[in-house]
Amino acid sequence: MTIEVVYYNEGEDPAEWLPALRQALPEANIRLWKEGDVAPADYALVWNAPKALFEGRRGLKAVFNLAAGVDALLASEVVPEKVPIFRLEDAGMAVQIAEYAVYAVLRYFRRFDEYSKLQATGQWGFLTPNDRNHFTVGIMGLGVMGTKAATMLKPFGFPLKGWSRNPKTVPSLMCYAGLGELPSFLSDVRVLVCLLPKTSETVGILNADLFRMLPDGAAIVNLGRGALMNEDDLLDALASRKLCGATLDVVANEPLSHGHPFWQHPDVMLTPHIAGLTFCDETVAVVAQAVRCLERGEVPPGLVDRTKGY
Ligand code: NAP
Ligand code: GLV
Repeated sequence: MTIEVVYYNEGEDPAEWLPALRQALPEANIRLWKEGDVAPADYALVWNAPKALFEGRRGLKAVFNLAAGVDALLASEVVPEKVPIFRLEDAGMAVQIAEYAVYAVLRYFRRFDEYSKLQATGQWGFLTPNDRNHFTVGIMGLGVMGTKAATMLKPFGFPLKGWSRNPKTVPSLMCYAGLGELPSFLSDVRVLVCLLPKTSETVGILNADLFRMLPDGAAIVNLGRGALMNEDDLLDALASRKLCGATLDVVANEPLSHGHPFWQHPDVMLTPHIAGLTFCDETVAVVAQAVRCLERGEVPPGLVDRTKGY
């Protein structure tokens, strides 16, 4: 029996993805979902798919979320409870995220953000260098993205700390877990890199209470989801110099609205949710392997735990 696959990937060119998928999974019949398509499908490969794709659809064996974060798919509650959801684990994203984290950390460590301001005002100024032995970097979220970021930060010699939900042991990383250990984790963190998923436990976690646990003048890098950040608290913390800067790849409402204070803020560096992009070739290879795995009756990597929300 042919494997039926329905595909919908908002913002991506089907002319690139469909041939790649068909080449990687020649045993499957892969079609672009269009309004009104309720024909049977074994697998749905989706990113930001309309609810209609799932409505009345029976027989789905699995849904593949064509991204790492499943918050939007889970929130839409469109996938029937019994249908497993798989997310992308890495698929070429982790190295991009780690590059971004390294860039942001080095920018603060070497004070390039401040040198840019000096240049803008025509000043040939000298700033005291930071001491790498006391420039602790903290990573919130020690999953696929967080551990890769830690691995790529390691050669720079900063003290590295990580925080997760469950206790962990990661080489060269001082590990902390749970809300109880959050104050110790944050106490000396100079740059906080956030790579948490958006769940009921993490929404708004980057707020004034958390900022108070950081040393004065720390910087924050949010690569997880915009909803993790209380944006008003961030603006207050920047105004009071509790925080020296923020690097944001994600914001609460994307795209960022015209006139939002972040656009012109001297201490905010913004990128439009590009830290870890879903590249076609890597993603297609991962999904093709996963479909074959399921067809053999095995469970591929990336199974989402709906009770945890990630
Ligand atoms: P992952 O492998 O599932 O890792 C998630 C990590 O967060 C785990 O270490 C988990 O702890 C920790 N965590 C979850 N809830 C927590 C809580 N309440 N308290 C403390 N720690 C908690 O996910 P991933 O692949 O690394 O991706 C992480 C997130 O990055 C995604 O969900 C997505 O939102 C974001 N992302 C953004 C981009 C971008 O372009 N900006 C690209 C890719 C991913 P345990 O290990 O104890 O379970
Ligand atoms: C991107 O934000 C992702 O979750 O993959």
